[in-house]
Amino acid sequence: MKIVTHSPAETIEAAKKLGSMLRAGDMIAYKGGLGAGKTTFTRGLAIGLGLGDNVSSPTFALVNEYRGDKITLYHFDMYRISTEEGLESTGFYDYDFENNVAAVEWSENIAEFLPKDTIHITIASLGENDREITIEDGGRFAAAWD
Ligand SMILES: Nc1ncnc2c1ncn2[C@@H]1O[C@H](COP(=O)(O)OP(=O)(O)OP(=O)(O)O)[C@@H](O)[C@H]1O
Ligand SMILES: [Mg+2]
Repeated sequence: MKIVTHSPAETIEAAKKLGSMLRAGDMIAYKGGLGAGKTTFTRGLAIGLGLGDNVSSPTFALVNEYRGDKITLYHFDMYRISTEEGLESTGFYDYDFENNVAAVEWSENIAEFLPKDTIHITIASLGENDREITIEDGGRFAAAWD
């Protein structure tokens, strides 16, 4: 499905809705260039998952973790990753994806290592404050967005 938002707040609102429907084992993979809104969207996911709103860019840390009582959100930035060795160096393979939720920025760089049922989100800029957000979820959330 496609959503067009007109402000960061609207993007956060849409992401919050998606976040509230996520469950353990879900993997979100973003595509979209610098400043598209991937970190902003992840802020909404964290709110929807009940993990607060202090999400920041993991560009230098490569991964930030937002822990809740039941679930943790792993927020990766793969901007600088291009090889499997590089991916391993983030500790990617050591995370408990089955019992938690992950959101991956610059997932283009690790496309071949993503699980089959990954939820793909593409954010395209339509102007300064307008973004087209395409969510490929295999129809899982279609009813919720009508
Ligand atoms: N509708 C919108 N949705 C999301 N962000 C928007 C929107 N309109 C403007 N913006 C602005 O776009 C920028 C998005 O930044 P953000 O850090 O979320 O992008 P990013 O995709 O994570 O970038 P990077 O690849 O550098 O990590 C912010 O400055 C935000 O205020
Ligand atoms: Mg970012």
